[in-house]
Parts: sequence; C-alpha cells; structure tokens
Amino acid sequence: MGDDATHFGFRQVPLEDKQALVDDVFATVARRYDLMNDLMTGGLHRAWKDDLVTLVDPPQAPTPFHLIDVAGGTGDIAFRVIEAGGRGTRATVCDINAEMLAVGRERAAERGCDDAVAFLEANAEALPLADRSFDAYTIAFGIRNVPRIERALAEAYRVLKLGGRFVCLEFSAVDVPGLDRLYELYSFNVIPALGRVVAGDAEPYRYLVESIRRFPRPRAFAAMIEAAGFRRVTVRPMSGGIVALHSGWRL
Ligand SMILES: C[S@@+](CC[C@H](N)C(=O)[O-])C[C@H]1O[C@@H](n2cnc3c(N)ncnc32)[C@H](O)[C@@H]1O
Repeated sequence: MGDDATHFGFRQVPLEDKQALVDDVFATVARRYDLMNDLMTGGLHRAWKDDLVTLVDPPQAPTPFHLIDVAGGTGDIAFRVIEAGGRGTRATVCDINAEMLAVGRERAAERGCDDAVAFLEANAEALPLADRSFDAYTIAFGIRNVPRIERALAEAYRVLKLGGRFVCLEFSAVDVPGLDRLYELYSFNVIPALGRVVAGDAEPYRYLVESIRRFPRPRAFAAMIEAAGFRRVTVRPMSGGIVALHSGWRL
C-alpha cells in the first residue's frame, strides 16, 4: 500500500478520503451512539472507562487540573473525570464531528456540569491549542479513526505539560483461545445486526468492527507512542484483549 493510501475498515482508500468517510459514520450514529455503546458492549464500556479514569487520577483537592479528551464525542470520559476529580478539575472535549459534540453539550447541560467542560470542534491531527497546556490527554475509542495516527500522537505530546499523562483506551486484539472465535462471530454478525435494528443502518457498525481489526497490535501501538516522545509507556490488555489501555508520560 502506498504512503498516500490507508484503510477505511477493510477497504483501501486514499488517505485524504478517510476522514470524510469516518465523519459520515459518526454523523449517522451520533443520536444513538450512547445507547449502542451499552448494547454492543453489554455495558462493559463503563468498566473500561472507569479503569481509564483511575489511570488519569484527577486530584481530589481543588487544585487546577485540566484534561483534554480528544475524539471525546458525546463527553463520556470528560464527565467521568470531572466527577472523579476535585473542584479544580476541568475538561476540554475535542472532536471533529459537530453532531457528536452537539449530543455532548446537551448531556453536559442535563448533568449540570457545563461550567466545567468546554467543547471544541477540531481535528486530533492539528489541535488549535497552546503547547504544554494540559495535565492529561485522553482518547477513548478514537485513535483508530484518525487517518494519521502519528500526527495525533505528536499533537498529544505537544499539548501536554511536562509531567502530563497520555492515556488511550482502544479496542485491541483478543488473544484468548475460544474467546477469539466467539468475539469474531459476535463482531461481524451481531454488531451490524444490532446497528440495523436499533440505529436503522448496519453499515456504520460494519466499519467500526473492521476498523478494530485493522488497528495495530498492542506492542506495535506502544512503540508508536514511544516514537512520539512519551516515556514509561505501558499497555494493559483488559477483558481478554477486547480492549487495551495504553499510557505514557511527557517527562
Ligand atoms: C467511537 S467514538 C468515541 C467517543 C468517546 N470517546 C467514547 O469513548 O464514547 C470516536 C470519535 O472519534 C471522533 N473522531 C474521528 N476522527 C477524528 C479526528 N481526526 N479528530 C478528532 N476526533 C475524531 C469521531 O467524530 C467520534 O466522535
């Protein structure tokens, strides 16, 4: 595959076309996104996100702590970090998709936390934000959708303060014999069918499943995080490798 080509799910596409295809997927699913997350993962995404928040570890004291949650969509991670932290905890949810952010803004208003969270429409590959301005950078189920992952990692490094932590939660590679076959069947059959019934369209969910299979294996992704400059990089597979939590520090 040439330098100017990539994959949209299993389809090879020109690199510059991928983002628009991804944007169509999330514009289509935005209103049903949170419900589908619960249905597709049987609620497990909540436990995975709790583990991410534990790694972010926002201070309980009213000390200022500013999180940037990239590909933050409907705000789930930001809300959890704000709830876990003290009065000084703030979050900026950054996403390229206006429809996902609109749902996030409504949810923030419903939860009464709109003074602690800001929503920003921007591309993870080129954040319109100052160098060294955040204490933590999170990206959950987002990085595999970004066409140029190296650029997003370089931006994560740039906007983090010294001592800041990068934490990424992403679907990974199931490596438990037996579970892998079951997971394969579930992903390629049940998830698109659920999409058709609940959200009225199977195609976006087929993309989501295919994009998971194309994402680099955990060790390879850890090496990419290191190449971006992060130190003390760790990877923790969870639920038999269905997801992995990667972390690194800007030191
Ligand atoms: C699967 S959702 C994850 C939402 C949220 N982080 C969560 O865990 O529920 C992926 C999000 O990535 C966003 N996204 C895709 N490409 C992006 C990019 N280049 N920059 C910023 N966000 C992007 C999509 O718009 C979508 O909201």
